[in-house]
Amino acid sequence: MSADKLIRPEIRALSAYHVQDATGMVKLDAMENPFVFPDELRAGLAEALAGASLNRYPSAEAGGLKAAIRHAMNIPDCLDILLGNGSDEIIQLVAMAAARPGAVLLSVEPAFVMFRMIATFCGLRYHGVPLRPDFSLDTAAMIQAIERERPAVTFIAYPNNPTGTLFDRDALRAVIRAVDACGGLVVVDEAYFAFSSDSFLHEIADHPNAVLMRTVSKLGLAGLRLGMLIGRPEWLEEFDKLRLPYNINALTQAAAGYAMQHYGAFLAQASQLRTERGRLSAALATMPGVQVHPSEANFVLIRVAAAERVFEALLSRRILVKNTSNAHPLLANTLRLTVGTPAENAQLIAALQELL
Ligand SMILES: Cc1ncc(COP(=O)(O)O)c(C=O)c1O
Repeated sequence: MSADKLIRPEIRALSAYHVQDATGMVKLDAMENPFVFPDELRAGLAEALAGASLNRYPSAEAGGLKAAIRHAMNIPDCLDILLGNGSDEIIQLVAMAAARPGAVLLSVEPAFVMFRMIATFCGLRYHGVPLRPDFSLDTAAMIQAIERERPAVTFIAYPNNPTGTLFDRDALRAVIRAVDACGGLVVVDEAYFAFSSDSFLHEIADHPNAVLMRTVSKLGLAGLRLGMLIGRPEWLEEFDKLRLPYNINALTQAAAGYAMQHYGAFLAQASQLRTERGRLSAALATMPGVQVHPSEANFVLIRVAAAERVFEALLSRRILVKNTSNAHPLLANTLRLTVGTPAENAQLIAALQELL
């Protein structure tokens, strides 16, 4: 028996998710929060971690952490919370649960690449509906595709990655209604909620076929790997059956529980990043030949002639951004720039001013 005989052809055709080595670089490629854990909270964090029982399996339900998240994020009582090892794991749980033979996972294009990849891992057929050239949701095309493909699950990131666009709220409602008419589920992915002027959290309970996903990754806690699905118990109970036991380790439960008690400190960092996003976008808009797309996330997508050359020139200055040019035809000649610290952004702006 060999790998080429045993492994499914669609898996053999995939490339593993590539993470570029960023040692010694100004790292502006992965939408991390550049600020470290707040100094004034470090002693409390150490105490919380020291109190974790590492000899035991972690709490399987992570009830304490869920309560802390519910309180910090003001999650309505009628909704349950399911925790994942990053929201990537939650995407996988939902996809696994929906993977009947022939089932379709639908999203927009361009979207977060893991929607497509996880659909393939789980044996669903992926269908991506192109956004309009200005990256807004093409409601008519979406509804047509939903009626034709009858997707089991539809993922919409609100705001979207890699474009940073916050879709029109009514357009998203129309998509949820169209999916409902076909018996499918919509996952509203709010990975970037902390940077956005709008959220669907307080509307999600109104839609019987929609759930909402968040992560602490962009909030300054990417190293913990913690994502959450928020939704009606009848959905979450089913996904919970597929969750591997103890998926949230004891150190993550302790650290995230402590961080949630000091949630304001992380929101303050996010607010500073929103201010920095404004500064960065304004500086980019003054550069010749740069088109800046409006962003409600902690990154800015720009279009420049010869993006590949600009990307390589930034790399040679030890600045790592994401070259999104080849990810989708609508993204030709684009770079996605994560918002960094004021000093990092100044360095990026100076380098681009020299290059363009
Ligand atoms: C839209 C979107 N959803 C989900 C994720 C995954 O987040 P996590 O780190 O919680 O797995 C990302 C990460 O970039 C993202 O952009």
